[in-house]
Amino acid sequence: MTDKQNWIASKGKPLQGDIDIPGDKSVSHRAVMFAALADGVSQVDGFLEGEDTRATAAIFSQLGVRIETPSPSRRIVHGVGIDGLQAPSQPLDCGNAGTGMRLLTGLLAAQRFDSVLIGDESLSKRPMRRVTEPLAQMGARIDTADGGLPPLRIHGGQALHSIDYASPVASAQVKSCLLLAGLYAQGETIVRESHPTRDYTERMLSAFGVEIDYSPGYACLRGGQRLRATDIQVPADFSSAAFFLVAASIVPGSCLRLRRVGLNPRRTGLLQALRMMGADIVEENAAEHGGEAVADLVVRHAPLRGIEVPEALVPDMIDEFPALFAAAACAEGPTVVRGAAELRVKESDRLAAMANGLRALGLQVDETADGATIHPGTLHGGRIESHGDHRIAMAFSVAGQCSDGEVVVGDTANVATSFPGYETLARGVGFGLR
Ligand code: S3P
Repeated sequence: MTDKQNWIASKGKPLQGDIDIPGDKSVSHRAVMFAALADGVSQVDGFLEGEDTRATAAIFSQLGVRIETPSPSRRIVHGVGIDGLQAPSQPLDCGNAGTGMRLLTGLLAAQRFDSVLIGDESLSKRPMRRVTEPLAQMGARIDTADGGLPPLRIHGGQALHSIDYASPVASAQVKSCLLLAGLYAQGETIVRESHPTRDYTERMLSAFGVEIDYSPGYACLRGGQRLRATDIQVPADFSSAAFFLVAASIVPGSCLRLRRVGLNPRRTGLLQALRMMGADIVEENAAEHGGEAVADLVVRHAPLRGIEVPEALVPDMIDEFPALFAAAACAEGPTVVRGAAELRVKESDRLAAMANGLRALGLQVDETADGATIHPGTLHGGRIESHGDHRIAMAFSVAGQCSDGEVVVGDTANVATSFPGYETLARGVGFGLR
């Protein structure tokens, strides 16, 4: 076994600087996928050079799509058209990426050829029935491992029919998977959600010329439509910015400017939660970047107080709970999270990982099936496990900035899945991190 990479996080300096956060992961995955399916050549700028999104690009190369990398964060995708993908000769490796695997399942279920989707240790434990069951209702044939887990063996050559599906989980991945399959199905595919989720698939398919009717909690498209190549500007990833928003809020004397961060309303629940906690975050230079709202976020230190996180915000901040837990640990008074059971099936069980980690640093955290109460206090040094989860690792590097001692963060290599260069950027603005 190779030695795992660890970090040591401890109090640094007041955080100062103007920084660029890498491109949005959700948008980067979709940009490459849709550009690959389009007629014509699309340029993607601001593409996230993370392991997850590179895995998706590599899969489309295996499916016969030519993708050029003229410079970092830029891809030129030579679309093959909706019917132009070619059979892969090897299993398709999604790495750590749930988005990659779930969206590809919908797309590949509709192809003429067979394919196999595999993933890393963490992805191999993540539930796939949420996509394979509705796809089976559409006529797809997919074999899973026991328990509905990857690998997924997809039998091509099935004629799919449309579905009107009320999703039991709030999941943009499920919605997007079914919409992609729906592009190939007879009739109109409808996905209904009781808690609206991020709408990048809907917005971006529309930018690629697909007629799609959507509003929060509803999306409907007709099968048989073609995609027209278009250029995509990927905004900076709010989920990556989240760690700096929290860090600057909790470290006295800090002021950071995060440039051109994507502020899609289905992603920015943490902004609202932090503001309820008393954070000082100002939006400047608001603009539109490829159909998405972006702005510079200027964050200054401010004392935070604990809150009850409104359950309605949960889907809009589903990736930000590790960062929120770090903020809650350094606030005044307890923070209560409910209605967030989905956190148990992310890259790790994030409720358990954050609760155990904060306990290891001396805090009391009461865990429930779908949430936790975090009781802030003095954070001591200690060792925490990230369970190979990028966001757990980054959250504890942030918590370390207000800890009395050194926080050793175990197994941080997977930070490269979503945020290559995080450590250097964080150190550059003043983090104590080595
Ligand atoms: C994503 C959707 C969310 C999110 C993930 C990215 C997407 O997952 O947690 O990081 O790009 O569609 P779920 O659909 O499982 O909620």
